Amino acid sequence: MIIKEPNTKVEFEQYYDLRWRILRQPWNQPHGSEKDEKENESIHIMMIHNDSIIGCGQGHFNSPTEAQIRYMVVEEGFQGKGVGTKILNVLERRLTKNGAKTIILNARENAVKFYQKHNYKIIEKGNILFDVIEHFKMRKKICRK
Ligand SMILES: CC(C)(COP(=O)(O)OP(=O)(O)OC[C@H]1O[C@@H](n2cnc3c(N)ncnc32)[C@H](O)[C@@H]1OP(=O)(O)O)[C@@H](O)C(=O)NCCC(=O)NCCS
Repeated sequence: MIIKEPNTKVEFEQYYDLRWRILRQPWNQPHGSEKDEKENESIHIMMIHNDSIIGCGQGHFNSPTEAQIRYMVVEEGFQGKGVGTKILNVLERRLTKNGAKTIILNARENAVKFYQKHNYKIIEKGNILFDVIEHFKMRKKICRK
């Protein structure tokens, strides 16, 4: 398995396609809905296995010290095997190195336990996406050694 930033056009296509397939297609959302206004200023990380993308995640800054992680996705069939943890760890390291003291995220209800395992705490209930997916705003304070 290789963990890296997408660089080529093909890698970015695979990256956005995975996001769309797991986070948007099941709710009949169109292509393009898997992107937001922060793409160009974000850190993008992807995991590759046998030349195929199996996971990805994005991180960006809301302020010099507050970062946000979004679009954490692991391909079906590879979930629950530590791939998400590896991607999250790389994103957290990069964001911390660049000044993050706090990382926030909006977790889908099904992913709350995953983030709790990684020491994120629920702050409040968030929005409901596509009328059905509950979100929880979560936060992790970074302790630097
Ligand atoms: C959420 C997600 C990114 C986690 O990645 P993953 O590779 O499956 O998670 P890991 O294998 O690294 O899991 C790490 C720990 O969290 C736990 N965990 C992961 N997903 C979980 C879930 N849905 N419910 C309960 N525990 C979960 C694992 O059991 C594991 O615990 P362990 O170390 O005690 O075994 C992935 O499952 C996924 O893509 N889900 C669908 C898309 C999604 O909802 N993304 C989140 C958007 S906010």
